[in-house]
Amino acid sequence: MDVLEAILSRRSIRKYTTEPVTDEEVELILQAAMAAPSSGNARPWHFIVIRDHNTMDEVARMHPYAGMLPNAQVSILVCADEKLENHPGRWPQDCAAATENILLAAHGLGLGAVWIGLHPEIDRIPLIRKLFDLPLTVHPLSLVAMGRPNEKKLPPHRFKPERIHYEKW
Ligand SMILES: Cc1cc2nc3c(=O)[nH]c(=O)nc-3n(C[C@H](O)[C@H](O)[C@H](O)COP(=O)(O)O)c2cc1C
Repeated sequence: MDVLEAILSRRSIRKYTTEPVTDEEVELILQAAMAAPSSGNARPWHFIVIRDHNTMDEVARMHPYAGMLPNAQVSILVCADEKLENHPGRWPQDCAAATENILLAAHGLGLGAVWIGLHPEIDRIPLIRKLFDLPLTVHPLSLVAMGRPNEKKLPPHRFKPERIHYEKW
């Protein structure tokens, strides 16, 4: 799939078939994640690949918008170690860029995926920290649920020319 086609047709997919996602697909997706831009090229990210449904069910129980997780084939926790940063405080932007790359790579491979928000909802972080044994310097940004799509969604068409300014506001 051409990169522009992938960007313009990506949607959040929350229904999945029971067909597995392979380890090879997950590795390709993580290659895309780690190819993302990052502040000072620090790449402070770490990724936790989750296939255990007990874990996904537990996140779904505590997170108000993660109802798709029990049906996901795999999910990826995107987090960053603040000790790896060159410019402190930029890790959310670095992890957001990596998360978008994960979504686009999954879509390009014919998978469906959705971004589940964690940061900066402070009520969601302690359980995630405990569930995944995260060290104190490691901060979770998002969890991406994925599987083979069991729903079809049209391209979004969100282009708004009136939001574009030239030279000044
Ligand atoms: C920071 C962020 C947090 C999000 N959190 C959730 C979430 O917790 N659960 C969910 O189902 N979707 C979540 N989404 C997905 C959005 O709901 C979705 O991207 C938006 O509705 C646009 O739809 P689309 O992705 O199909 O284009 C999140 C997206 C972003 C960027």
